[in-house]
Amino acid sequence: MDFIPKEIEAYALAHSDAESKILQEIEREAHIKTLMPRMISGNLQGKFLGFIAVISGAKNILEIGGFTGYSAIAVAEQTPEDCFIHTLEINPEYLTHLRKNIEHSGFSHRIKIHEGDALEIVPKLGFVPDLVFLDADKENYLTYYQQLIDILHPGGLIIADNVLWSGKVLSEPQNKDKETKGLQAFNHFVQNDSRVTNVLVPIRDGLMMIRKK
Ligand SMILES: C[S@@+](CC[C@H](N)C(=O)[O-])C[C@H]1O[C@@H](n2cnc3c(N)ncnc32)[C@H](O)[C@@H]1O
Repeated sequence: MDFIPKEIEAYALAHSDAESKILQEIEREAHIKTLMPRMISGNLQGKFLGFIAVISGAKNILEIGGFTGYSAIAVAEQTPEDCFIHTLEINPEYLTHLRKNIEHSGFSHRIKIHEGDALEIVPKLGFVPDLVFLDADKENYLTYYQQLIDILHPGGLIIADNVLWSGKVLSEPQNKDKETKGLQAFNHFVQNDSRVTNVLVPIRDGLMMIRKK
């Protein structure tokens, strides 16, 4: 569901930094070659994530859910040379696009791909991220949060995508809808967690912005 009317989004895009050529190509290719091109962050959200990365001074960024590399490259384009992005991806088909796009972007020295299940990779990261972009399996958002919140430094940030889930979080989920249930549990838990401050920003499909106190 689009929460923002098309004309308003077009106006916002027209008054934001333009999308780079490579990101335009990645978006176009995702529409032709993948079944779920809607998963891509897009220019507004990509610019927003990069903006937060820059003003927070993040040096180690963890992205859970790389897909074809759009958001990782969007953030790399906006951040300084000493900012490193680790992106986690499980799907072999998407990994092929991810590897190719990152190579082609010229950011392979700053974007490291971790192949496999993020649920297993996150506990063994070996570094403390300053900023986490949570954008993978919705039913496991709360697990990722619990894996990360204790290790983050004070001031560490988590930005979780799709927390409005096209508005489905407002209603009682169907029995088998584990994604809506997972997102509701995540939003409820974060809202009641005294270790953090949080704000749910209704950009695109909803971003939960979380800062560890
Ligand atoms: C919404 S897409 C990410 C979009 C990307 N951040 C962007 O804006 O271009 C979610 C991705 O998470 C991946 N994913 C889902 N479950 C995962 C898991 N357990 N571990 C690693 N990646 C996973 C999916 O294969 C998919 O590519």
